[in-house]
Amino acid sequence: MKALILVGGFGTRLRPLTLSVPKPLVDFANKPMILHQIEALKTIGVTEVVLAINYQPEVMLNFLKEYEKRLEIKITCSQETEPLGTAGPLALAREKLIDDSGLPFFVLNSDVISEYPLKQMIEFHQGHGGEASIMVTKVDEPSKYGVVVMEETTGKVEKFVEKPKIFVGNKINAGIYLLNPSVLDRIELRPTSIEKEVFPEIAAENKLYAMVLPGFWMDIGQPKDYITGLRLYLDSLQKNSSPKLATGPHIVGNVLVDESAVTGEGCLIGPDVAIGPGCVIDSGVRLSCCTVMRGVHIRKHACISNSIIGWHSTVGRWAHVENTTILGEDVHVGDEVYSNGGVVLPHKEIKSSILKPEIVM
Ligand code: GDD
Ligand code: MG
Repeated sequence: MKALILVGGFGTRLRPLTLSVPKPLVDFANKPMILHQIEALKTIGVTEVVLAINYQPEVMLNFLKEYEKRLEIKITCSQETEPLGTAGPLALAREKLIDDSGLPFFVLNSDVISEYPLKQMIEFHQGHGGEASIMVTKVDEPSKYGVVVMEETTGKVEKFVEKPKIFVGNKINAGIYLLNPSVLDRIELRPTSIEKEVFPEIAAENKLYAMVLPGFWMDIGQPKDYITGLRLYLDSLQKNSSPKLATGPHIVGNVLVDESAVTGEGCLIGPDVAIGPGCVIDSGVRLSCCTVMRGVHIRKHACISNSIIGWHSTVGRWAHVENTTILGEDVHVGDEVYSNGGVVLPHKEIKSSILKPEIVM
């Protein structure tokens, strides 16, 4: 089986992290987002993943070469010369997706995180006999997603409305599809949207089916959702009794700590924290609901909550970082500085406090 991951888009909502790497390579729970997906695809027997890309393909491919070997899965790129939206890239990759097997293929948005129940999805797809399957999930704020109205018992989709202005329902497109090769015949090679053009058409012919996704789901393409997504992800590790979760007297709730990170005396870490490789957390530090990426140094008695600390940054002694503060790569926050929702671009030094949420360039 094959799969295509939509990795285009500029990831503007996840700046400043996406100023350093393309969105799919931003770490989530100590691993680039896209690896969570590639590993899940590999587990259910996908042999080739096509990355539909529209910028910086070298960065992505160089990075993934290592994993191609490690995971024993073929990873190729299909590069657009102009952004083709969410459907156009499928037409562009047509030859890569179709083979003699006639098997359906997966399509994934690159910024969604879940337990990826892909095996169940294959069974669902085989069971309904339609042309395409999509995963749906319930959310409180459906207007920022694609909303799906479906027949409860069969899963047959009656209506698909992308980002509706008025309420049509609270089941939304989770960005995980299983499509028969015939879907490709519906897509022209031009910038086009699978949500606005392709799914409504298949639904109108009664050939689109939706499966309610079991377990958690989050689109982590925006900072607040990224932070919530980490909580849900760690909850799910805990439910599955994952040995990856940290334990010890200084750990509260669900926490991931890379084995190469060093933590000092008297820290209190958690809940819902991920500490990446090579991090140094000095003594007396308090961390909760935050991600600390590779190579970060947190100095004594700093306190960080609800924030993301980008690669190789430092946070000074007694500094206080909170309220969706996002530090880009290589940012240095001085001693005793307070950040209330600062969004700081890479390579900056912050010497005075950021008192209200703002972008620091
Ligand atoms: N190759 C390529 N080219 N990929 C693209 C392009 C493009 O021109 N534009 C967007 N993408 C990729 C993004 O990288 C992402 O993985 C995916 O397509 C969806 O784009 P987003 O920009 O993240 O869309 P969204 O989050 O507003 O909405 C989509 O996802 C929701 C679930 O998270 C839609 O699919 C909604 O229907 C869905 O509910
Ligand atoms: Mg998204």
